[in-house]
Amino acid sequence: MEQRTLTFSIFRYNPATPEITPRMQDFQLDENPNMTVFIALNRLREEQDPSLMFDFVCRAAICGSCAMLINGRPQLACKTLTADLPDHITLMPLPVFKLVGDLSVDTGTWFRQMCETTEAWIHTDAKFNPKAEEERMDNAIALDIYEAERCIECGCCIASCATANIRDDFLGAAGINRMARFLIDPRDQRSPAQVFEVMGTDEGVFGCIGLMACDFLCPMEIPLQTQLALVRRKMMAAALSCKCKH
Ligand code: FES
Repeated sequence: MEQRTLTFSIFRYNPATPEITPRMQDFQLDENPNMTVFIALNRLREEQDPSLMFDFVCRAAICGSCAMLINGRPQLACKTLTADLPDHITLMPLPVFKLVGDLSVDTGTWFRQMCETTEAWIHTDAKFNPKAEEERMDNAIALDIYEAERCIECGCCIASCATANIRDDFLGAAGINRMARFLIDPRDQRSPAQVFEVMGTDEGVFGCIGLMACDFLCPMEIPLQTQLALVRRKMMAAALSCKCKH
């Protein structure tokens, strides 16, 4: 492998010191074998600038904390090898989310709001019986639920979404995927009308303009296009059944 010296152009801004205007700062770093952007950032912070802000927890594409724009594309820093990038790498924070500082953003507030709007919990009238046996579930349904549950809430789908970038109440692919998870679950007793109230709106499925960058860029490769189609089909069925009754 040819030894390269990489140049990182990194967005710098700390909202706690607004008198220092946002800027790009360049750093040079010798590339190591199997170096990820996450490893490079740690080295830059340890060796060159301890004030550099970015997030990480797991280093293994599990926690979703390290998402950022890498050469303009939302990606996980811990899953992105520098070997797959050119010599000059630009790092920016994810758009849409509130900036904490430099490359660090607050995705937690956005995802909490989305969970509250979609009421992301099982709605059932069944009384909880601690002595009851676990309910059995069809294996195929359980696998479909698991597919939707693989979302690590990194925010890449939201950052890449044209609608989410212009309206902050859009639930985006993450919200649609979350609702799909409960539509698949037979224990959830929400009526189609209740689901329609949340998802049959411009904040829900009708806000999607179908560019599908979310599906293309999801680091977990969740089939977001399929989840969108599922929610849309349910919305259509709910609308038709309403029409038939009137
Ligand atoms: S550090 Fe957890 S996903 Fe990258």
